[in-house]
Amino acid sequence: MSDNNTADKQTADKIIGLGGAAMADGVEAAVIEVLRSGWPGPGPLADRFEGAFADYCGGVHPVAVNSCTAALHLAVRLLDLEPGAEVITTPVTFVGANEVILYEGLTPVFADIEPDTGNICVQAIERCVTARTGALMVMHYSGYPCDLDAVYALAARYDLPVIEDCAHAAGASYKSRRIGSHAGLQAFSFQATKNLSAIDGGLLFTRSAEEAERARCLRWMGIDSSTYTRTRHPASSNVYSVRELGYRYAMSDLNAAIALAQLPHLDEGNAIRASIAARYSDAFSSTPAVRTLARANDRASSHHLYAILCERRDELAAALRARGIVTGTHYPGNHRYPIFNSADVPEADRFSAQVLTLPMHPGLGESEVNRVIDAVIDLA
Ligand SMILES: Cc1ncc(COP(=O)(O)O)c(C=O)c1O
Repeated sequence: MSDNNTADKQTADKIIGLGGAAMADGVEAAVIEVLRSGWPGPGPLADRFEGAFADYCGGVHPVAVNSCTAALHLAVRLLDLEPGAEVITTPVTFVGANEVILYEGLTPVFADIEPDTGNICVQAIERCVTARTGALMVMHYSGYPCDLDAVYALAARYDLPVIEDCAHAAGASYKSRRIGSHAGLQAFSFQATKNLSAIDGGLLFTRSAEEAERARCLRWMGIDSSTYTRTRHPASSNVYSVRELGYRYAMSDLNAAIALAQLPHLDEGNAIRASIAARYSDAFSSTPAVRTLARANDRASSHHLYAILCERRDELAAALRARGIVTGTHYPGNHRYPIFNSADVPEADRFSAQVLTLPMHPGLGESEVNRVIDAVIDLA
């Protein structure tokens, strides 16, 4: 290695990244096995992962796809809403989650958030309900569950379907029930840095066997049978029909093999995240310039992100970066992007201006967590 490379590596070693993709023992062997199987595309491992993840969450009618964005898109699509119908959603989320509403020619309507959790506010949702409202989409910010009893009670009162964006929430629970086991449509992400990383992937829990069957068709161009079944089963025919316009959203067996090898380690990774979160929260409890988020004891977060609020957020982020600590700003209010309608959501605006997400992943060592804590206390 040249001197330059050595210097680069030493600098990189000092940088503490925001997230990370932890790969469990067994992933490499699972990948090699599927590569040698002759079938790394969508097939039996994706089916097996659907069952395993449904058992883990207590969810029903699972459909594995290649991203959470795909799962959310299919969820919206399955509702068959009239063009122009409104979907009430949070502005403080990953923009892709709200883009899927536009994919279907629908209108996102942004409800304000709870200032102390970052989750969508149920009273604010109610203020947004109109005769045109077609659905509610909620997101469990950072892995901390929304108040689902209140969300589902409101949805029942107005007879509205609920989509839960569970991208952050694999392994989280609300009142002792895992996220993914409630009544609506739930979309999960297995993207590279998520708590359950399959490099890429997603899964949608649907509300009935019929809905799951339609989603299976939609995830593969609307074709009414899987390529694996048609080409690998001697008894099946290669003739197929296309039921409706679909997409190329199926999960490959390569990603499913990784997901299956990772799943038994999800709780362990989340427990490490929880202990890092507890250390951060404890350390910042006496730092006046920093506010930590509120946590109710009827919910268990999956601690996908660890967020603080700080009025001098941008200065703090720059100072931390100068010390080799990478932070995030999850999320800029989506209502500020020109592709969406604007909205009067003052809590979301305040949150987006103050939120800073700190390094959080199971690979963070003791000394790295200490470095982050010391730097935040020192610089805030
Ligand atoms: C809240 C939220 N929703 C949806 C997504 C989309 O997930 P994916 O990358 O699997 O499409 C993400 C990804 O980061 C996310 O953070």
